[in-house]
Amino acid sequence: MPFDRTVKIAPSILSADFADFGREIRAVEDQGADWIHVDVMDGHFVPNLTFGPPAVKAFRKHVKTVMDVHLMIAPVDPYIEAYAEAGADILTAHVEAGAHTHRTLQAIRAAGMKAGVALNPGTPAQAVEHLLDLTDLVCVMTVNPGFGGQKFIDMTSKVRTLRQMIGDRPVHIEIDGGVDPTTAPLVVEAGADVLVAGSAVFRGGSVENPAPYGENIRGIRTAATTLAA
Ligand code: DX5
Ligand code: ZN
Repeated sequence: MPFDRTVKIAPSILSADFADFGREIRAVEDQGADWIHVDVMDGHFVPNLTFGPPAVKAFRKHVKTVMDVHLMIAPVDPYIEAYAEAGADILTAHVEAGAHTHRTLQAIRAAGMKAGVALNPGTPAQAVEHLLDLTDLVCVMTVNPGFGGQKFIDMTSKVRTLRQMIGDRPVHIEIDGGVDPTTAPLVVEAGADVLVAGSAVFRGGSVENPAPYGENIRGIRTAATTLAA
């Protein structure tokens, strides 16, 4: 997985058909997805519940690109090994999920994965300032985590601050929540390179009719790369 800052679109399968994940993953990848974003929720850290390691392991067989696993769970550390075994390429933990994110990020890398750290909207950029050398990705939440289809919360000033803090380090800035062709250019202009999108990718399409997935992905990418330039 070579590092670059080109814009990458990561569809969140939270907006896919939950009875058909394999075909949904293949459909969005065929339609141009760069990464697949997998939202793990525990009904405790966030008020919603999705899936755990056995399901994620089953998704792995269908992912040809990069499996980007976003943990909205607390605690994190007891489950790191299970997500490594499930085949996560990137494992992201919330900085709010526990007191020892520094140790968590070390453990994620030690288990052979790229380490991500996510920030809720109310958490300042400075919360990760001393973690950047242990981190491969900072995920800036632009909604309060838990559900797809929520309204974008403007975090462009946080993204700008993070972009400056990161400097030349090979650390991605990922945006998660309410990304669409209107909001994508704002965050890319501020320094983000990975755009998670659930409802804005899956709307209008299905595994039987996947062309809208491609139109939606291209719509976000084109808006992000042309308007932000
Ligand atoms: C929110 C999840 C997001 C969500 C994004 O808790 O982390 O990945 O699926 O969905 P949209 O793009 O619909 O806001
Ligand atoms: Zn997510």
